[in-house]
Amino acid sequence: MKILIERTTENDFSQTENLTRESFWNLYKPGCDEHLVLHNIRNSKSYISELDLVAVFENEIIGHIISTKAIIIDLQNNKHEILCVGPLSVSADFQKKGIGSELLNESIKVAKELDYKGMILFGNPDYYHRFGFRNAQEYSITTKDGLNFEPFMALELQTNGLEDIKGKFFEDNAFITQPNELIEFEKQFPYKEKLVTDTQLKH
Ligand SMILES: CC(C)(COP(=O)(O)OP(=O)(O)OC[C@H]1O[C@@H](n2cnc3c(N)ncnc32)[C@H](O)[C@@H]1OP(=O)(O)O)[C@@H](O)C(=O)NCCC(=O)NCCS
Repeated sequence: MKILIERTTENDFSQTENLTRESFWNLYKPGCDEHLVLHNIRNSKSYISELDLVAVFENEIIGHIISTKAIIIDLQNNKHEILCVGPLSVSADFQKKGIGSELLNESIKVAKELDYKGMILFGNPDYYHRFGFRNAQEYSITTKDGLNFEPFMALELQTNGLEDIKGKFFEDNAFITQPNELIEFEKQFPYKEKLVTDTQLKH
């Protein structure tokens, strides 16, 4: 299966938002807001076009990943630029074929070339440990609320890249969506039913 990983163009924006909506719908909560997050990221200062990537199979977009600028604020109030990974989506028909891995590996490669020191994400440790992500606590990085938990993970992109970056992690405000904004945004997409599912209860 020959997959191409390419930079997203503006023509792909709405299609990748729809792919994100389809992948996350009813997964972690009834409905989802990750497609709105993606839309907002693209209009924010944290957007990095080089790290907005699609996976293409036979001219069809079947996967997408984005990483954005985020900051760590240390005890002395210094700000350190870092990356925040996600959302990451692979179309349901193409999951478990290594496409998510190809997207993430390419993001890591490009992020290293861009000289970023590390990346942070919230996700399933069983999946992300294989790429080298570790509990962010090991690097003395906490959430903005001072918390640590297994799904909050960090990856060094340079040797000892996170050694001098300790503190609280702040992602862009694009990640905070408002209920009314989501209702308005949803009008662009085909209707989907919001459901409470067993999978949501496991998360
Ligand atoms: C999470 C997600 C992006 C993973 O994408 P993916 O393309 O299925 O990921 P991969 O194929 O790289 O890896 C998934 C699994 O397939 C396995 N796999 C990889 N290549 C494979 C292949 N050629 N044949 C069979 N299995 C394979 C991997 O070992 C992995 O196994 P696991 O179940 O032990 O984790 C995708 O499931 C998704 O879009 N989910 C919904 C949205 C979401 O949750 N996003 C991430 C939020 S943190």
